[in-house]
Order: sequence, then structure tokens, then C-alpha cells
Amino acid sequence: MPTASEVRARTGGKDIRHITFSESDIAKRVAEMGREITAYYPEGEELLVLGLLKGSFMFLADLVRQIERPLHVDFAVVASYGSGTVSSGDVKMVYDPSANLEGRHVLLVEDIIDSGNTINRLIPLLEQRGPRSLELCALLHKHVAKELVVEPRWVGFDAPREFLIGYGLDHSENYRHLPFIASL
Ligand code: IMP
Ligand code: MG
Repeated sequence: MPTASEVRARTGGKDIRHITFSESDIAKRVAEMGREITAYYPEGEELLVLGLLKGSFMFLADLVRQIERPLHVDFAVVASYGSGTVSSGDVKMVYDPSANLEGRHVLLVEDIIDSGNTINRLIPLLEQRGPRSLELCALLHKHVAKELVVEPRWVGFDAPREFLIGYGLDHSENYRHLPFIASL
């Protein structure tokens, strides 16, 4: 575990409340998820792992190294717009994956499921492109979403209903580089 002064050196002086998931908790769980995902897709099948930027970049990088199947990596960027910090529920794809999804096993990788708006808007758009299968994998799930169009098949951790940072997750673009997940 990093000391408080090591944390402050990385955050620019800001203290964090507590480390929710340590670097080793994450590594252990991501390795398990990689084994579960490998077991789910029959040998010989090829996957398209589609990461949602920016939040999933670190998780995706670690996860794909634990999947023992042939795969391609692509990314999508979605923006939810509306005023303030409350998601309006409107989601727009601002970077559309160049990969063709038709007939492919698509694994969508999300950092955290909170209200579910992102997933509820994005999944139908991806379904329209005719993937052979479309599964959702989320590192964190807050279990606050009332209704999800698709339940994630793989969840890293059930998350506390707190604002989390680190391991890809940001607060105003800060803290994505922290190797652990913490609550602000
Ligand atoms: P949803 O559309 O409300 O499910 O939220 C999904 C997106 O909101 C995630 O991909 C994150 O970018 C962001 N988000 C939700 N909760 C948190 C949090 O606790 N910390 C950082 N980002 C979050
Ligand atoms: Mg995000």
C-alpha cells in the first residue's frame, strides 16, 4: 500500500479518503476475469474487444493480456451531454469504432456502470450492426441503475455508492493514472 505522502506526490497534494481496491486486489480480479472470459468463448473463436474511452483504457490493457483467445482491440468514445454533473441520459458516439461488428463476437468493456445511461444508449446502437454476440464486461458496478438493457456478464467488483477515482477513472480528468481505485 502506498503511504499518504506517496499518494500526495501523485495527486498533487490532494488526500484521498481511502483506497477501495488496491493494486493487488485489481490484478487478482482482472486475472480471474480473463480466465472466465477465456472459458466463455470456445477455442478458435475470435473476439473484438471494444473499450469505452477514456475510463476503460487501463482495465482494457490489463484484461486483454489475460484473455487467451485471438482478438482485436478497438475503442469507442461516447459523450453524454446536458448541463452540470448529472447525466442527461442523452448519449452520442463521438468516436465510432472503425471495426466492422457484423458477425463478430463483440465484448464491450466499460469502467463503471452508474446510472446505466451510457450502456442503455450504446448497446442498441451496437446491436443494430449485427454482431454475432455482444457481451458486456464492467470493472465496477454501482448497482444503482434501475433498468439495464443488458446485464454485464462479467463484473470486477460491486462498487460502493461513492465517487471513485484511479485505474482509469477520473475526476475532472485527474487521477486516471493511479494504480489503485480510491474514493475522493
Ligand atoms: P452511467 O452512464 O451513469 O452508467 O455512467 C457511466 C460513466 O460515468 C462511466 O463510464 C464513468 O465515466 C462515469 N462515472 C460514473 N461513476 C463514476 C465514478 O464514481 N467515478 C468516476 N467516473 C464515474
Ligand atoms: Mg467514462
